[in-house]
Amino acid sequence: MDAFEAITTRRSVREFTDREVTDRELDRLIEAARWAPSGLNNQPWRFMKVTDRSLIEDLSHMTKYRGVVAGAPALMAIFIDADEMYDRTRDLMSAGAAIQNLLLAAHETGMGACWLGEILAKREDVQALLEVPDSFEFVALVALGWPVERERSGVRHPPEKFVVQPPETD
Ligand SMILES: Cc1cc2nc3c(=O)[nH]c(=O)nc-3n(C[C@H](O)[C@H](O)[C@H](O)COP(=O)(O)O)c2cc1C
Repeated sequence: MDAFEAITTRRSVREFTDREVTDRELDRLIEAARWAPSGLNNQPWRFMKVTDRSLIEDLSHMTKYRGVVAGAPALMAIFIDADEMYDRTRDLMSAGAAIQNLLLAAHETGMGACWLGEILAKREDVQALLEVPDSFEFVALVALGWPVERERSGVRHPPEKFVVQPPETD
């Protein structure tokens, strides 16, 4: 699978089989994530692998996407570290790039993943549960596992909706 194919065929996966995700497989996703670009190459992201059933259960109660979280054999919690940040917007964008790398690496190995943002409404509860340092800001949770096979359609706006023209000059 080349990069373009991975980008265009990746879909959010919200139903997983019972097959476990190994620590080694999670490390490979982090390896992909850490090669993302970041402003000043400051790499503000922090990753926490969560496979403990009790923690997964507790996290599932912090989002309305409870079924997705509880049904995942593994989660990746992503934070940015204020101690390493230089600009909030740029650092958040860097974390987003790292998360997309992680999603694409998961897809390329046949794993399924779903980026979960709604759970940020319970950011403080998540940070307390996961006992992260005060400088950490929780920015995303990714549910990971082996996908239940079914058709997943992707929907996108046509380019005419989002490609805007530069001003004309003489
Ligand atoms: C910042 C962000 C937050 C998201 N939050 C959620 C979420 O809380 N729950 C969920 O089921 N999907 C969530 N998603 C997944 C999107 O719904 C999904 O990417 C979008 O519908 C496009 O579908 P696709 O990923 O299959 O192409 C989120 C995606 C992003 C990038």
